[in-house]
Amino acid sequence: MQILITGTSKGLGSGLAAYYLGRGDSVYGISRTSNEMLDKQLGFHFLAQDLSDFDAMAKTVPGFFKKAGNFDLVILNAGLLPEIKDLKDCSLDEIAPVMDVNVWSNKILIDLLISNPDKPGQVVAVSSGASVYGNRGWNAYSISKAALNMLIKLYAAEQPETHFSSIAPGLIDSGMQDYIYSMPHDPRFPSLDKLKEAKTSGEMPAPAEAARIFAESVIKARGEESGSFLDVREM
Ligand SMILES: NC(=O)c1ccc[n+]([C@@H]2O[C@H](COP(=O)([O-])OP(=O)(O)OC[C@H]3O[C@@H](n4cnc5c(N)ncnc54)[C@H](OP(=O)(O)O)[C@@H]3O)[C@@H](O)[C@H]2O)c1
Repeated sequence: MQILITGTSKGLGSGLAAYYLGRGDSVYGISRTSNEMLDKQLGFHFLAQDLSDFDAMAKTVPGFFKKAGNFDLVILNAGLLPEIKDLKDCSLDEIAPVMDVNVWSNKILIDLLISNPDKPGQVVAVSSGASVYGNRGWNAYSISKAALNMLIKLYAAEQPETHFSSIAPGLIDSGMQDYIYSMPHDPRFPSLDKLKEAKTSGEMPAPAEAARIFAESVIKARGEESGSFLDVREM
């Protein structure tokens, strides 16, 4: 299979790239920084690109996609977690880059992919439980993931040839969780305490294991209605 994955430098994205390469698939990865281990592998193609720089994307991404020809599977995984704080304390300038990476870069990528007569077979957006929980402190992240779910639902309605879904991957012991773990206790944000507890009690798989679970969910998602929001913990 030919697979496009965004955010392959670390975390879930690097785990997914390693998983699919291990199966003999060709993986096309995009992130700002490269991953030395993936770079050495045959079948891995990499584009160093900031997904918040839409002008640069217009110049680099079409050529990268042309090299691949078509994609059987696209995993829109790159994501940004802003500082945990109340929404009232977030300026629109702080919110914009979160929406750019977590939502609008995916619109740009999907629009390019569906302009190819050979459309992708399946597009999966990496969502989050935060898209539906509304826990205090998750500000623009929750808004961006809720918008991502709807973006996927709308494309599903427009593009019947491609199967779309957004899937919450559960907890992953990645850089994102390291940031949460480093935060001081704050009684306003009780969800952080639960995450810190999960990190130390073995409830948070490492990226390689989270990728294996996520890849199984990608297959199961095909049996669900296109445009669905799914959660690996309920599949
Ligand atoms: N960790 C969790 O428990 C958890 C839970 C629910 C959902 N998720 C979601 O799972 C996905 C992966 O998260 P993770 O935990 O693996 O995070 P991570 O370790 O922080 O990795 C994030 C990835 O996104 C890429 N990225 C971020 N900003 C980018 C930009 N401007 N341009 C290009 N690439 C960019 C990063 O690459 P560069 O920095 O090299 O650009 C990196 O490869 C995210 O969508 C996240 O929201 C994670």
